[in-house]
Amino acid sequence: MRVLVSGSEGYIGSVLAPTLLQAGHDVVGLDTGFHRCAWLYNAVPMAPLWICRDARDVTVEHLRGFDAVIHLADLSNDPLGDFDRSLTFEINHQATVAMAEKAKAAGVPRFVYSSSCSVYGASGATDAWSTEDSPTAPLTAYAECKVLVENDLRALADDSFSPVYLRNATAFGASPRLRFDLVVNELVGLAVTTSELRLASDGTPWRPFVHVRDISKAMRCAIEAPRDAVHDRTFNVGDTSANYQIRDVAEAIREVVPGCEITYGDSSGDARNYRADFTRIAKELPGFSCEYDLRRGVEELYDVFRQVGLEEETLHARQHRRLKQMTYLRDTGQVDDRFRWLVHPT
Ligand SMILES: NC(=O)c1ccc[n+]([C@@H]2O[C@H](COP(=O)([O-])OP(=O)(O)OC[C@H]3O[C@@H](n4cnc5c(N)ncnc54)[C@H](O)[C@@H]3O)[C@@H](O)[C@H]2O)c1
Repeated sequence: MRVLVSGSEGYIGSVLAPTLLQAGHDVVGLDTGFHRCAWLYNAVPMAPLWICRDARDVTVEHLRGFDAVIHLADLSNDPLGDFDRSLTFEINHQATVAMAEKAKAAGVPRFVYSSSCSVYGASGATDAWSTEDSPTAPLTAYAECKVLVENDLRALADDSFSPVYLRNATAFGASPRLRFDLVVNELVGLAVTTSELRLASDGTPWRPFVHVRDISKAMRCAIEAPRDAVHDRTFNVGDTSANYQIRDVAEAIREVVPGCEITYGDSSGDARNYRADFTRIAKELPGFSCEYDLRRGVEELYDVFRQVGLEEETLHARQHRRLKQMTYLRDTGQVDDRFRWLVHPT
């Protein structure tokens, strides 16, 4: 299949694009390059053809001839999303829906949207486990956009156009372009560089986790599946056994990384608290099952961090943290207040 991956230079895209190439797909990546400098290591055996473009400027012509679009281009976490709400809605909601409309006009039959389990917000404060049919409870502009996009894409679904909504759990695991603003990656990094696992909360909030390679696998399955299996459908992406309280994540890391201590924040440190049910994807997305549990992912991160000689400075560097990097690009006049390039890095 000929596949366009938007956001191909991000944490997930840097794993997804080679995954698709290895599976024999013809891949074109599209990215404006906000996080191009986020390399922690060079391990990409295959790179896609590449278009440097802002998702807001994509035209119908750019999208002609593709069998599927996988859309990852976003301001991609809660703190960055709250940095400028109107900009978040412009990129994450409006530009995404416009991209889908143009894909449909270009005759692209399938559009895979990278949504998030963060649409469930604080629902874990009750005993309920969130399924795809549970009410959403977004807590941030980022999560609100995920809900809005899913609803708007649903209105585009018809015989010629099949949107698929993949609600990913919180990602973790090694990617050549690593993010340290993801809780598991950050905690393993802290354990390796400081021997202290500093939690923002008291460790009680629940979150589901999924390895970045399993997210990529779900996306591959979503483009390869028969249309009826995925047309206009929502899937939580992860495994029901991988819902953890943050303190259990810290304990798992302590078992892998010798000699580290856990310290706890106050209970208000993290409002996100939800458990998700992943029965549907295991039963109904052909070919999908998770291959990485938390322990395997932590061991892999530990190996990678030792191999690259990870230092505390790198752990906190702007290149690996979305809000810091975008603030830096704006404060140094490289992008304007709409995150448009003033000095383009090509
Ligand atoms: N990482 C997670 O835990 C997680 C969980 C659930 C959902 N998701 C979603 O998956 C997607 C990818 O996440 P990620 O962790 O790889 O994020 P990321 O920030 O690492 O990558 C996003 C990429 O999109 C690009 N981008 C942003 N705005 C753009 C624009 N206007 N035009 C073109 N390119 C643009 C950036 O340059 C970056 O390379 C996002 O939609 C995110 O919301 C991520």
